Amino acid sequence: MKKEKIKNKIKKLKTELRHHEHQYYVLDDPEISDAEYDEMMQELQKLENKYPEFKTSDSPTQRVGGEALDEFKKVEHQNEMLSLGNSFNEQELKDFADRIYRKDGISKKEVDFIVEHKIDGLSAILRYENGIFSLGATRGNGRIGEDVTKNLKTIGSIPLKLNKKVDLEIRGEVFIKKEDFEKLNERRLEEGKEAFANPRNAAAGSIRQLDPSIAASRPLSFLPYTLINYEKLEIENHLEALSYIKNLGFKNNWFKKAENIEKVIEICNRWVEKRDMLNHEIDGMVVKVNDFSLREKLGSTSKSPRWAVAFKFPAQKKTTFVKNIKISVGRTGALTPTAILEPVEIDGSIVSRATLHNEDELKRKDVRVGDKVLIQKAGDIIPEVIKVIKENRDGSEKEFEMPDECPVCESEAVREEGKAVLRCTNIACPAQRKESILHFVSRDAMNIDGIGESLVDQLLENKLVEDYSDLYFLKKEELLPLERIAEKSANNILNAITESKDREFEQLLYALGIRYVGQRTARLIAAKYNSISSLAQAGEKELIKINEIGPAIAESIVHFFSEDHNKKVIEKLKKAEVNLSKDSENEKNEFLSDKRFVFTGGLDNYTRKEASDKVRKAGGRVTSSVSGNTDYVVAGNNPGSKLDKAQELGIDILDEERFENLFE
Ligand code: IVH
Repeated sequence: MKKEKIKNKIKKLKTELRHHEHQYYVLDDPEISDAEYDEMMQELQKLENKYPEFKTSDSPTQRVGGEALDEFKKVEHQNEMLSLGNSFNEQELKDFADRIYRKDGISKKEVDFIVEHKIDGLSAILRYENGIFSLGATRGNGRIGEDVTKNLKTIGSIPLKLNKKVDLEIRGEVFIKKEDFEKLNERRLEEGKEAFANPRNAAAGSIRQLDPSIAASRPLSFLPYTLINYEKLEIENHLEALSYIKNLGFKNNWFKKAENIEKVIEICNRWVEKRDMLNHEIDGMVVKVNDFSLREKLGSTSKSPRWAVAFKFPAQKKTTFVKNIKISVGRTGALTPTAILEPVEIDGSIVSRATLHNEDELKRKDVRVGDKVLIQKAGDIIPEVIKVIKENRDGSEKEFEMPDECPVCESEAVREEGKAVLRCTNIACPAQRKESILHFVSRDAMNIDGIGESLVDQLLENKLVEDYSDLYFLKKEELLPLERIAEKSANNILNAITESKDREFEQLLYALGIRYVGQRTARLIAAKYNSISSLAQAGEKELIKINEIGPAIAESIVHFFSEDHNKKVIEKLKKAEVNLSKDSENEKNEFLSDKRFVFTGGLDNYTRKEASDKVRKAGGRVTSSVSGNTDYVVAGNNPGSKLDKAQELGIDILDEERFENLFE
């Protein structure tokens, strides 16, 4: 009996604390003092310590604490997390709308837009099971992110328990409010720590900490922007989704409905002026089609949905002085003139370098050492010099001559005919090596944590590696004498290297650093070729046949595999047992690449999840409702209205047997 009473007491405290969290973090309207809140929390904490059998993962006491992790677990997103296309002016917003209106079966009148703030933070995915926060992840590369549940739990505006017992996923942005950021930096300076450059870096840095007590000490906030799994909830448009999200216990991001694109433009322009009034940073607006069935019709490209676009605020411009002009060497040996600037603050970050792109640009803009220049920075784009303020010259400014040799290895630098880029001709150039290793380990490539610039410098200086393939042969004894490497970090690095041997074939292709082979091209190649050895044998003619692959890319690929140096690198990767082919189980059947499936009714041999996984593994996509874009509807036992719709639209309908045949 007594136990029953305690259980009830705990339940009551949890409900009350949850209510006050909501008042404080979501509604900005606290009803009790901090001290009263703390007291209640301590009471709950005490009871839970004494009766751990009543402790639950959604208890307000579970926001803080837990042990530091050794590493983040990887999380595969149930639905790929796409990004947004950008627009920078009115015309580009109109173009976005025109692309929508041109789609068959869509009339201009039926398209309503929702315009929202584009919050400048980092995106997070929150999974709820039966209404309880069960998993939180970063976006990562869109398909695989990191499990940062413990850090996200510390954020007061993320409910640990929803007002409804539902299974769903909320996506949104983690950020730090301006006033909280200022206080945080003041505190850091008092503690003798370095201040953060801007709120976004501070937020991202906090979420990427292995020790959750660090995130708990940072004033993080969260605003939601997407609801996944709306089908089951019978929500038909974004406005309904936003109000549903609010009723679950979240705070809403700012939003406004616009009946046409002219209204959208008006709203966007208004916020260009008003953005500074907000208590958090926004770097633009997001424009979304309201109606979900229209969204289905419009679909997505491999990168971003066709039903949404970001409107980016105009880049901020500032003037400063060019202290020097230096040459930086990229991973493909490109020598880029870079202006070293008198540091200035733009949009909350300090800019001390700007790219001058290449010799022609440098000449055209006539940038000289000592010049006063106008520079601009927009989002993640590298800052650039827009123009020289020539009226400011006094004759002491010095012109810069492009070198005829690489500043790092002193080999000859040449400019290929008809190209603007000057290149170092030495493939063994240390600067190229460094950049190519940094590219190899980067997140979208082999995603090897813990290898930064200073470590790569040391590895090259000490001749422990010559190229990225040597990473796989590093030994602990070799790492330990290096600066800032201890037993634990050495272990972590070696583990991360080993773990990367199993990356997907397309990640490896991108990581190799073949000129012009970015992530998208790597994906296209991986859809066609099963292994490095088959790709290495392909000729230019054959490669050009792949949609979107032009002669320059084809030539670059063939050239890459013909170089002796690269052949040796591939041999070493093979010896290290790095995955150089498509997993046979994962093999993407080209036939299914990007094909859209909808399931209705039950199957005999598969659960819905198994069947969906099978489709995804073969490169296809699974969507929840039938539209003109659907390629196949798989109808099992007791199919629903989706079957009728498929028949109506003349979509190919498969029974279980025909479905299985696709994979033979
Ligand atoms: S919608 C399918 N809405 O901007 C894309 N994104 O690429 C779904 N962001 O990574 C994104 N505010 O982290 C959306 N109101 C908003 C947003 C927003 C910020 C971020 C998001 C995403 C990036 C755009």
